[in-house]
Amino acid sequence: MYKAYYRRFLELHRGELHFTAHSHHYWPDVTREAQLEYWDDAARHVDGKWDYLYRAVIPETQRHIARMIGSKTPQQIVFAPNTHEFVCRLLSCFEPGQPLAILTSDSEFHSFQRQLSRLAEYSWIKLRRVAAEPIEGFNERLLAALAEAPYQFIFLSQVFFNSGLVVPHLVQFMEEIKRCAPESALITLDGYHGFCALPTGIAAFSDRVFYLAGGYKYAQAGEGVCFLHVPPGCRLRPVNTGWFAEYARSSTPQTDHVFYPDNARRFAGATFDPSGIYRLRAVLRLFQTLGLEIRDVHRYVASLQQRFISRLEELHHPVFNESALLYRRGQAHGHFLTFQLDSPETAERWVAELQRRQIFVDYRGSRLRFGFGLYHDLDDIDALCRRLRHRAG
Ligand SMILES: Cc1ncc(COP(=O)(O)O)c(C=O)c1O
Repeated sequence: MYKAYYRRFLELHRGELHFTAHSHHYWPDVTREAQLEYWDDAARHVDGKWDYLYRAVIPETQRHIARMIGSKTPQQIVFAPNTHEFVCRLLSCFEPGQPLAILTSDSEFHSFQRQLSRLAEYSWIKLRRVAAEPIEGFNERLLAALAEAPYQFIFLSQVFFNSGLVVPHLVQFMEEIKRCAPESALITLDGYHGFCALPTGIAAFSDRVFYLAGGYKYAQAGEGVCFLHVPPGCRLRPVNTGWFAEYARSSTPQTDHVFYPDNARRFAGATFDPSGIYRLRAVLRLFQTLGLEIRDVHRYVASLQQRFISRLEELHHPVFNESALLYRRGQAHGHFLTFQLDSPETAERWVAELQRRQIFVDYRGSRLRFGFGLYHDLDDIDALCRRLRHRAG
């Protein structure tokens, strides 16, 4: 149904069944033109490139993103090449060497876990990780932890990367976090596995909550384009700061006073490759031209997942069966389906075995993930199940 928009990637991978849309989503053809447009703009504007970027490309991309996440403040969106940069910048809002209590889940993305584990080696950092599973009860566990101590940095995912499980009742939950957290606490929602996949509205909590996401996964724009939605009125002065944070003032005389703008750009860094923003804008324009809303994308992907689940029931596969599947019928779920295998080695072996059958999936620890996207159709799901059946057991 949507394959016509992914002609180039599909042609290069004929015969392959690529089910890592949750990690490396195929890019629609419009992103290739966008990449070339970036080159042409760089040549056309040369020194004026950044002016043009901030005058035309970024505002349009901000508007598209704001529309998708239900924000009325597109100027509160700032870009960086990866979310890790934002995490570091957010953490740099805290005074170094002063006690800092951090509350998060045990299922945050690898860079975040790693960064926090390293920071927790400092005596002044107290880190608490609440178990994300069982997902039923996660909200209560996190709120109970919050009631026990005044955490200053609270960070959680909307959809957990190692299961596809979705934080239940997001809006209500974020409002509760806002209510229970100390007034000065910095609250961040990592929406990467939700953005352009699950219908998401941040309006009810964006006055207090930072929202992070990016283009690599469901936004189909590739690497190098992440964004942070900063609560309006935020006056934090991140210590980790680059020249884009005062871009508009770059021609004024420098003083010792470090100026921060009133909008999200106070969280900007330094020189980066903006071609990802062009690609993201192209994808979001395509969605708009097609009248494709995120709820349509989600409905389509959910139908592929349902087909996969019902075919699995017939397959009786020794590994890929319902009892190994981390999925709750009737509950919101991310765009990948995860199987719990018995060890990381088994998962690794299966990824390699499936690759031999021209099926591409990935794994995190002992969990193997199948990701679904707009460039699949029901025939692909049937073909996937036929190839899984082949030598099953
Ligand atoms: C939940 C989540 N957040 C963020 C990221 C991306 O992080 P970064 O842009 O810092 O590489 C990923 C990537 O897989 C992720 O799964």
